[in-house]
Amino acid sequence: MRIESRQWLAEAAAAVMCLTLLPAAASAQAQDARVAMARASAAPTADVTFHKDVEAILQRSCQTCHRPGSVAPFSMLTYEEARRYAQRIRDYTEDRVMPPWPYDRTVGIQSFKNDHTLTDGEIATIAAWVDGGAPEGNAADAPPPIEWKPASEYWEYEEFYGRPPDLVIESPPYVVQANGMDQWPEPVAEVIGLEGERWIRAIEIRPKDPRSGYVFHHGNPSLEQEAGRGGLIASAVGKRGEIYPEDAGKLIQPGARVSFGMHFHPYDEDVEAVMQLGLWFYPEGERPKYETPGEVQFRADQSTGSSRDIARRADLLIPPNSTATYQGTYVLRQNTRIQSLRGHMHVRGKNQILEAIYPDGRRELISKLNWDHAWHTAFVYENDVRPLLPRGTVLLITSIFDNTADNPLNPDPNQWVVAGSRTVDEMSHIWVGLTYIPDDGEFQAMVEERERRPMAARD
Ligand code: HEC
Repeated sequence: MRIESRQWLAEAAAAVMCLTLLPAAASAQAQDARVAMARASAAPTADVTFHKDVEAILQRSCQTCHRPGSVAPFSMLTYEEARRYAQRIRDYTEDRVMPPWPYDRTVGIQSFKNDHTLTDGEIATIAAWVDGGAPEGNAADAPPPIEWKPASEYWEYEEFYGRPPDLVIESPPYVVQANGMDQWPEPVAEVIGLEGERWIRAIEIRPKDPRSGYVFHHGNPSLEQEAGRGGLIASAVGKRGEIYPEDAGKLIQPGARVSFGMHFHPYDEDVEAVMQLGLWFYPEGERPKYETPGEVQFRADQSTGSSRDIARRADLLIPPNSTATYQGTYVLRQNTRIQSLRGHMHVRGKNQILEAIYPDGRRELISKLNWDHAWHTAFVYENDVRPLLPRGTVLLITSIFDNTADNPLNPDPNQWVVAGSRTVDEMSHIWVGLTYIPDDGEFQAMVEERERRPMAARD
């Protein structure tokens, strides 16, 4: 199932977008309508043109990265630019290398809110356009251009909520020294302007200005408050925020402190970096049915220790010129509904697999990620395929590393690799976005509702 409009934002737990720069919200809807129309049209014919057939596809699935100042090596905003790369655009889309979607299509759950990959029909349209000489066509057929803005100039979820965040928390400035090593400061901000307890519906992180954006690698802000400590949001290249499920939220209390837990990557001049966290709340006095921890980290190794239930884990140690597989298991102490999944490894990473072993012994492969360090994509499940795991279910995390010369990202296959924060070290965890459903009756009702649906409607 694919979502043709930005509707998915309404319930998405995370967004898959280019981190540094994002599209202005306003024109996106019009554009999506056009894409939907383009998709509905029949098989490509000889008169496929750029403006009529191809441009809207590039707008939706490519331009967020392929434009000046963003992450991709060339821009696709104009006909001339696309024309120059037409053959490669054809090859990369046919091979499904672009847009990046590092997820195994052959096993596990295949239905997402944020899947902007191309349909077979769209791939064929692009191929027909290139084979037909990549004609421009009539400019009058073109979809309205998207007004792209730097990340620091807007909030992505503002479109969905129709208002800026209810509360913005700003990190104290941190000077990232030019041309140095990566830096992991933990600037702390007191939360001010909160009059009573509130429940968070969505959360987004952005650099305060473009310069802060240059050095922003990722941030894992956490919350300290009377109700306890806990992660607030984990961000990464390709993930800017989280919208919790429609029935879930996270509590924030007056007097809370936010520790920003940043990872900065130096630029060629000193940068005074400031990050902003935007929070959207449930209406005052409204408590969502469930409290969600958001994304929870499950590891395949225990190199830096962990307090959670662990049946068997080991330190990461990957020999030169070899592959290695690590597994971690966790027993779920509560009924759990999984809303999203995001891998995390570094440059020797190859695959990450999440499996569930149900209390009755049934084993299900939920997802297999084809790891690519360039893309920290969050895969957000459609509501009706979100895994429902009764308490006692075992989560089995498998992380597979390739430290051979066959791995194109491997900087040196002759090194021993250990766990660590540097990109040349390794990590093995999966971020699982989840919501606990403590009440057995409610959980059972969810399971039964799922089972009542005919098979055909399940994907
Ligand atoms: C999330 C960001 C992102 C999106 C979305 C994206 N690209 Fe890319 N693309 C990149 C980056 C980064 C590179 C360079 C690194 C690489 O090749 O992986 C690239 C490389 C390419 C290349 C190879 C360029 C070369 O120099 O040979 C082509 C062709 C391409 N993209 C086409 C597309 C098309 C067509 C789409 C949409 C259907 C698309 N990309 C969507 C980020 C993106």
